[in-house]
Amino acid sequence: MAGNADLNNAGRARKDEFYTQLTVIEAELRHYRKHFAGKTVFCNCDDPYESNFFKYFAMNFNFLGLKKLIATCYDPSPIAGDELPLFEPAEKRAFKIEITEVADVNGDGAVDLADVALLIKNRRNTLTVLDGNGDFRSDECVELLKESDIVVTNPPFSLFREYMAQLIRYEKKFLIIGNINAVTYKDVFPLIARNRLWLGASIHSGDREFAVPKNYPLNAAGCREDADGNRFIRVKGVRWFTNLDYPQRHEELILYKRYTQEEYPKFDNYDAIDVDKTTEIPYDYDGVMGVPITFLDKYNPDQFDIIGLDRYVPDNPRYGHRFTIDGKEQYARILIRRKGGAQ
Ligand SMILES: C[S@@+](CC[C@H](N)C(=O)[O-])C[C@H]1O[C@@H](n2cnc3c(N)ncnc32)[C@H](O)[C@@H]1O
Repeated sequence: MAGNADLNNAGRARKDEFYTQLTVIEAELRHYRKHFAGKTVFCNCDDPYESNFFKYFAMNFNFLGLKKLIATCYDPSPIAGDELPLFEPAEKRAFKIEITEVADVNGDGAVDLADVALLIKNRRNTLTVLDGNGDFRSDECVELLKESDIVVTNPPFSLFREYMAQLIRYEKKFLIIGNINAVTYKDVFPLIARNRLWLGASIHSGDREFAVPKNYPLNAAGCREDADGNRFIRVKGVRWFTNLDYPQRHEELILYKRYTQEEYPKFDNYDAIDVDKTTEIPYDYDGVMGVPITFLDKYNPDQFDIIGLDRYVPDNPRYGHRFTIDGKEQYARILIRRKGGAQ
């Protein structure tokens, strides 16, 4: 039994066990405060024992004015020895936690995680063992999803498509972590083009550090182990994906370059100009432009329309392939047009 559990954990660890740091969560969540008042938040890939999402919302329950916080755990937590365990390890199984109040129960003058732990301990009904394994697709987790207003988590990347599809199917508000490459997925891009999904406020470049289980191999650049043996890996291309609005996405991108035929060649097989860098989008070109995927980090829906993704625009004669210039295949391009004509 222990052997199997270890193998299962190791199998999952290879792809899915990346734990989000509290600083990463705080840096993003500060842009959305107004969305949370009176709302039920669901963290559905989050063992409260280890998840900083659960900790963030528990600690900020009153500050945000939440109605309820729900977290569901998928199987037992592979991370042991958390510095502030909320439960005894023996209690750990797939379970849900539901919280409707956080108060200073230990009377130390502060409302913090110690109070959350006490609340859970004193009122057993906040912690319920699930029938199944806590899979976000299971009936019991879907029932919790239906009951909630906003889903916030870092879901398993290997299931990102399915995860996103479920959020859309149940018309939920969400703020989740994924990889920038997911924007080019055939089922994700149309959501972006129709402004039903966009990138979040705080991460637009570089990499972010995630905690990983102690048995996780540290063989890539950017890995480290701290003095207590906790392991961390830096991951590139991390982005927040959301359908919660925030002011910065309506800020105008300042355009300074004039269009010239020489500087902005047209694709061989599509009527659009190629723009190498988002900052070099010409201010006076009215037609369709192919821009890098990272355009989405600066995309203001009041300034540009998204027409499509190179590979999947219906009139791409090489449908499924990227555009070429002088026969040479180009990097992935998003097709955009400025709203409202030349400046
Ligand atoms: C990228 S980790 C992030 C964990 C946590 N949300 C955080 O950000 O720290 C994804 C988590 O989803 C869990 N998971 C994997 N498959 C799942 C499933 N089908 N349903 C629910 N959770 C799942 C993994 O065990 C893992 O803990």
